[in-house]
Amino acid sequence: MSKKTVAIICGGRSSEHEISCLSAGGVLAGLDKSAYEAVLIGITKSGTWVHLPLDYSLSITNGLLPTVDENAAPLVADVHGFSLNGLPLEIDVVFPVLHGPYGEDGTIQGFLETADIAYVGSGVMASGTAMDKAFSKIIFEAAGMHVAQGIVLTSDDWQSRISELEYPVFVKPARGGSSRGTHKVKSADALQAAILDAFSYDRKVMIENAVVGREIECAVLERNGTVEASLVGEIVIDSKFEFYDFEAKYLDSATSVNLPANIPSSASDEIRAKAVQAFKALGCSGLARVDFFYTDKGEVIINEINTMPGFTSTSMYPKLMAATGVDYTTLISALLDTALDRTNGVLGN
Ligand SMILES: Nc1ncnc2c1ncn2[C@@H]1O[C@H](COP(=O)(O)OP(=O)(O)O)[C@@H](O)[C@H]1O
Ligand SMILES: [Mg+2]
Repeated sequence: MSKKTVAIICGGRSSEHEISCLSAGGVLAGLDKSAYEAVLIGITKSGTWVHLPLDYSLSITNGLLPTVDENAAPLVADVHGFSLNGLPLEIDVVFPVLHGPYGEDGTIQGFLETADIAYVGSGVMASGTAMDKAFSKIIFEAAGMHVAQGIVLTSDDWQSRISELEYPVFVKPARGGSSRGTHKVKSADALQAAILDAFSYDRKVMIENAVVGREIECAVLERNGTVEASLVGEIVIDSKFEFYDFEAKYLDSATSVNLPANIPSSASDEIRAKAVQAFKALGCSGLARVDFFYTDKGEVIINEINTMPGFTSTSMYPKLMAATGVDYTTLISALLDTALDRTNGVLGN
């Protein structure tokens, strides 16, 4: 069987540019080279598409996170596909390892659909809905799941809507990621600064009651026509952090994972079932990491779904799948196979 060519796309215009580069470095290293040929495509922070050599550094070097070089060789991406120096690049499937807006939100997916190129992950509508926490919560609730109660603010109406909050609350951009712009607010005097910071990331901001509970994550994988849930893992955050913020996620080794989570099996069964239910309710494809709170009272509350979760070999999604018996290379191949077989059209399942 001839090898398929995979274009791994990384970087992008979102605040998760560097994390995307790390994820792409993982995918490139973990790709089964006997079955796939890789092409590396970068999107710079300013939005230029470039071709990167396969030995381009996508790891942390001297404490610096990787980025896509603004001066790398420009690549043309249009409705005919990709070309470099006037010559077409033959690509069988794209793995858009992009997190956040302009990557995980349906925009790249729409471009790839228009160019008729197969790609890993959710389609346009599921990607867009999952990116917007306010919209996805409505769908989760309609599917019978519990969510944190709260309000949604837009930049022109917020002043009149914040008088009757019960603290603590969480303030976060509706379409953010990596906890950027997210604040735990304990009293009214700290609210305005938190809201303004969240608005610096997004013109739509959510305020939610703070859920007191453990954070449990579940990986969902679609392969061979079925949707499976992984074992569930608990994020254990060092007590010096108030919540799972950017530092706790990436810059500090203080966060660890209990895998499988030490919760009753009835709770993990419920979480796994709800993860698959959430995936299907949104019409996701390929993969998603679904994040929950498990409260002391035994209640399962869905927090969010990520359609392109962090994807280095040590990120939560691959770790959850590995613990479930799907190693990193097998996982990447399964996602590429699912992408190549996909028949569900532009708006997903
Ligand atoms: N309503 C909430 N109650 C308790 N903790 C929350 C709430 N919303 C967010 N958090 C905390 O903030 C973190 C980041 O928020 P999240 O909604 O998951 O956004 P992101 O997409 O940035 O991961 C969560 O992992 C959790 O620690
Ligand atoms: Mg999260």
